[in-house]
Amino acid sequence: MTGFATHVECARCNTDYPVDQIAQVCKLDGGPLLVRYDLTRVRAAVTREAVTARPATLWRYRELLPMTGESIVTLGEPVTPLDEAPRLGAALGVPRLRVKDEGLLPTGTFKARGAAVGVTRARELGVTVLALPTAGNAGAAWAAYGARAGLRVVVVMPETTPEVIVRETSAYGAETYLVPGSIADAGKVVRQACDRYGWYDASTLREPYRIEGKKTMGFELAEQLGWRLPEVIVYPTGGGVGLIGMWKAFQELRAIGWLAQSAKTRFVAAQSTGCAPIVRAFEEGWDESEAWPDPRTFAAGIRVPKALGDFIVLKALRESGGTAVAVSDDDIRATMRAAGEAEGMLVCPEGAAALAAAEGLRRDGWIGEDEQVVVFNTGTGLKYAESLPGATPRRLGANELPEESAALRRA
Ligand SMILES: Cc1ncc(COP(=O)(O)O)c(C=O)c1O
Ligand SMILES: [Zn+2]
Repeated sequence: MTGFATHVECARCNTDYPVDQIAQVCKLDGGPLLVRYDLTRVRAAVTREAVTARPATLWRYRELLPMTGESIVTLGEPVTPLDEAPRLGAALGVPRLRVKDEGLLPTGTFKARGAAVGVTRARELGVTVLALPTAGNAGAAWAAYGARAGLRVVVVMPETTPEVIVRETSAYGAETYLVPGSIADAGKVVRQACDRYGWYDASTLREPYRIEGKKTMGFELAEQLGWRLPEVIVYPTGGGVGLIGMWKAFQELRAIGWLAQSAKTRFVAAQSTGCAPIVRAFEEGWDESEAWPDPRTFAAGIRVPKALGDFIVLKALRESGGTAVAVSDDDIRATMRAAGEAEGMLVCPEGAAALAAAEGLRRDGWIGEDEQVVVFNTGTGLKYAESLPGATPRRLGANELPEESAALRRA
């Protein structure tokens, strides 16, 4: 197979670069590079029906992915479920709620999508060492896929990263470093090391392929809804790659005729009140965000003080008629508990932030009662073991029985 990708293009100045060489960011303005495809050829080469008949993994969309060879790096990525959540929807006041549950992917988060495609492409380009800063889950995912591909992986993360994620990353054999501060501080270390040692910089939007993996969330969602889009998509936004990826995915699907030209969705970026640079920029009418001075939230994945692709996120929000909302860590915690108790869904704090944002927008009337709302739960709550909500278990003494009433549950 040789692929359908034709070049990579700067998202700022539209300068083209070859797709068959290592390209990190635009040499002129440092802008992120996006992969472009010969969509006329894709349209002639494959149909929706053919894709649907393939195995249920993200690779079924291979004509719209950047690989050139047959050899992929995979840990078995399932199409993630788009769950109905009637009890949780009732609790949040969002009757037509669906949850796309990314916690079922290898390494327990949607970061597996970006890592699977990103590592596949890095190996194709002859990369042997890659380094990345991370809020946590991307480091774990790239470590796992790097191990699978036999590459050397160096990960730098904030010292406040949840412990399970730090240990998980080491367990995949990645050289794992902790630094004070946020992902921005980790990013400075990685950039210097990559400059000094000539390593491949796999930071968010500093290589063009991670986003291609993440956009498969959009392909899957459109396919699961019978090739249409929900009225609203709520996405927990850190670097914003998932949101930009889906926005790009829908443009590509419209271009090849798999989605109607009229198929629209309003994107909502959910952040924490402790780190809300996109929300602030959206409200102020800015084209770019300002770095958030002291980012604090236990939702580690959305603790990103300034995203390289912030200007694309803001454009996607505005052009789609969407919005940006910040919720408190207390609301995030309460919503984690509500999802667990109402539906048996152990959502991550980031996913809970998105659910809480949907609740607030429905209460304000921004989301209508009849509107279909898809919320992304970007990972499993198991990775945040120390933050899981719920009543403290009670130790039973000898000859003691559990309470006949639901006293412990209410505790
Ligand atoms: C669980 C989780 N959700 C959401 C995000 C934010 O992702 P994005 O860069 O796509 O905004 C992250 C990033 O680390 C994450 O780990
Ligand atoms: Zn440029």
